[in-house]
Amino acid sequence: MPGSQHSALGSLVLISAVVGFSVGAFAYTAGWLTPGRLTSMELVAALAPPGGPALGHRRNHAKGVCFTGNFEANGNAVALSKAPLFIAGRYPVLGRFNLATPDPNAADPTVRVRGIGMQISAPDGNVWRMALIDPPVFAVSTPQGFYDLLEASKSKNPDAMKGFVAAHPEFAAFGEWASKAPWTASYAEVTFNSLNAFIFTNGDGAKNAVRWSLRPETQPVTIAVEDFAKLGPNHLEEDIIDRVSKSPQRWTLVLTVADPSDPTSDPTKAWPPERRTVEAGTLVVEKIEQEADGLCRDINFDPTVLPDGIEVSDDPFPAARSAAYARSYDLRTSEASQYPRTAASAKP
Ligand code: HEM
Repeated sequence: MPGSQHSALGSLVLISAVVGFSVGAFAYTAGWLTPGRLTSMELVAALAPPGGPALGHRRNHAKGVCFTGNFEANGNAVALSKAPLFIAGRYPVLGRFNLATPDPNAADPTVRVRGIGMQISAPDGNVWRMALIDPPVFAVSTPQGFYDLLEASKSKNPDAMKGFVAAHPEFAAFGEWASKAPWTASYAEVTFNSLNAFIFTNGDGAKNAVRWSLRPETQPVTIAVEDFAKLGPNHLEEDIIDRVSKSPQRWTLVLTVADPSDPTSDPTKAWPPERRTVEAGTLVVEKIEQEADGLCRDINFDPTVLPDGIEVSDDPFPAARSAAYARSYDLRTSEASQYPRTAASAKP
């Protein structure tokens, strides 16, 4: 019937238009239509050391150990976010302590930045993934700046870092921390920071920009890096295995709420220390497992995987990180045969 033929053709045209628009929008977001725009492939390639990446491993934060435990929410954060995992209760966590290096065999005292990746799961299927590090500010204010830093630090030109620092004055605060902050000899003594700002929405629809930290219950004991080196190249992993085998290790999840005037798009800029904080609950780490045997190996702690009640802000990093982590995840999982097996992981 002509009528139905006409409407079928109309539907096809509409579908092609929708598909065309979606592909166009995707290509635009992916940067394919913007010559010169930084891609996730370039970012991940820039992370590789001169000898090439360690196949089968994360392209950054490659050295790490898995954990499982719980997040014990105290209910206080319900005022800020309707995320179900802020309702008072216990929610399962899986995570990974790690070092910011592309080398899975790097000696601990050679790596300045320590991290934690984790996922908190709510019973209704909402999950919150995050990856936090221990400096109080990030090194650069844009993903392009991060790429420039990686390129400069690998360059054979002896003036490359000098040129980078001159072009990126925002690097100074991180540089100061990296050169002067005291070392500790335990993951259990590290404060981990989100640095990126996210938007929290509560049940009444009120929105606030928030950054958060995991503050250890264990009091930090500082150690000279020379003395830390004497404890051996893998001390952090040995220490956390030992501590958790004796008793669970705890961190308080502290949310910091921005004033409207605080910068949310630039993780090199700390917010004033007097900002309101809310203690949302406690991360309890109950079991450590080698990465090869643990749940954390084949997960991507993509910081844009967020529960209802938390969204990305105008901070450009989470989107760039999401794309780079996906690229790294695709590479490392496709190289699984290159990943060293332990006796336990080799079991059928
Ligand atoms: C444009 C900037 C950044 C790039 C390109 C980048 C890149 C990467 C890549 C490729 C991975 C490995 C992902 C995987 O294979 O699963 C990774 C892991 C990680 N990143 Fe980033 N990153 C960036 C910024 C940040 C920031 C701002 C933070 C924290 C505030 C951070 C914290 C971490 C942590 C803790 C991990 C390890 C997570 C895990 O254990 O799986 N990164 N990063």
